[in-house]
Amino acid sequence: MRVLVTGGCGFIGSNFIIHMLATHQDMTIVNLDKLTYAGNLGNLAGVRREHGGTRYVFARGDIANAELVAHLITVHKVDAVVNFAAETHVDRSIADASPFIQTNIVGAQALLETARTMGVPRFVHVSTDEVYGTLGPEGAFSEETPLAPNSPYSASKAAADLLVRACHETYGYDTVITRCSNNYGPYQFPEKLIPLMIGRAVNDEPLPVYGDGKNVRDWIHVLDHCRGVELALLKGRAGEVYNFGGAAEKPNIEVVKTILAALGKPESLIRFVTDRPGHDRRYAMDFSKARRELGFAPSYDFTRGMAETLAWYLENAAWVEDVKSGNYARFMAAWYGERV
Ligand code: NAD
Ligand code: DAU
Repeated sequence: MRVLVTGGCGFIGSNFIIHMLATHQDMTIVNLDKLTYAGNLGNLAGVRREHGGTRYVFARGDIANAELVAHLITVHKVDAVVNFAAETHVDRSIADASPFIQTNIVGAQALLETARTMGVPRFVHVSTDEVYGTLGPEGAFSEETPLAPNSPYSASKAAADLLVRACHETYGYDTVITRCSNNYGPYQFPEKLIPLMIGRAVNDEPLPVYGDGKNVRDWIHVLDHCRGVELALLKGRAGEVYNFGGAAEKPNIEVVKTILAALGKPESLIRFVTDRPGHDRRYAMDFSKARRELGFAPSYDFTRGMAETLAWYLENAAWVEDVKSGNYARFMAAWYGERV
């Protein structure tokens, strides 16, 4: 099988490529990535050494570039597209939505259209639980929950989901949408909660917790998400949506305290700062459809996953410093300002 993976130099995309090449000896992966601030070729250095030019090919470019995408599909005889490419950080979408509109909507539609018109047999679109909006203290999102996004990021992801759905309904194109909860694990860009807090705690810097810290996220190890996308690619039914979750709902403050305790750092580093505008209160996933139809189940419990993740970030301080070059410092200074 020959798969065009987009956004493969990002957090989940690179974990997905490493996993798929290791577990499917008959698979070739073409990785199309624009290498934005969030994309890092170094994540796949091992893959390039082992499989470069044979089972792994990298192309730098934009998913909106139909000519380039068509060229890759033809030359590599692509059997399926898995679209991870996106602008992904909610806070950045609040500061400036335009790159989110461009990549997550315009880019996703261009990629979808090119794949469909070129006859690529299957298109898997990787989406998020954030398209469902927010929950009260009870219940969980199912695939039937109406879309009600609350941030520019989640609105752009919901728009793409609707375009993918419409493409299936209108043209009968074989599409599958996956929606997953918050991922954690190796190679996550250190603007996201867990790697951000690890890095700041290690350096004895204040930890900025939004609002009262009681917003709840469902945490899934990135490898469990990758296995979910793998199942959706290989076994998902055309036109369907599949939710994935980690069955690990935690208030943010608990996650932050877990990190501090594991590192032996004091809770006095915590700062409760001005809340994120439009901050969703709680996410939880009903993934019974994926369990039933695909055989999906998360394999990591949060304690084990966090211990491994902490160890990875401590051992890979050079990776963190490397990805923090670029526009990281500028965004962080503008976003957090004087709050911490
Ligand atoms: P990330 O920000 O770490 O990586 C995104 C990658 O996409 C980068 O390598 C970047 O260079 C690339 N990219 C951005 N714009 C591009 C474009 N126009 N053309 C080609 N490449 C482009 O993101 P992530 O956290 O790995 O998320 C991957 C996907 O999974 C996204 O679609 C996201 O919405 C979805 N998702 C993420 C999570 C999570 O917790 N991180 C949860 C559910 C779903
Ligand atoms: O739920 C899936 C989504 O998870 C993905 O679709 C997004 O791409 C991904 O970025 C992530 O979105 P979140 O907004 O949930 O993740 P983030 O790491 O930014 O924040 C997690 C929680 O922590 C959220 O409630 C906000 C809070 N937070 C975050 C930061 C960066 C803080 O309290 N302080 C912070 O400094």
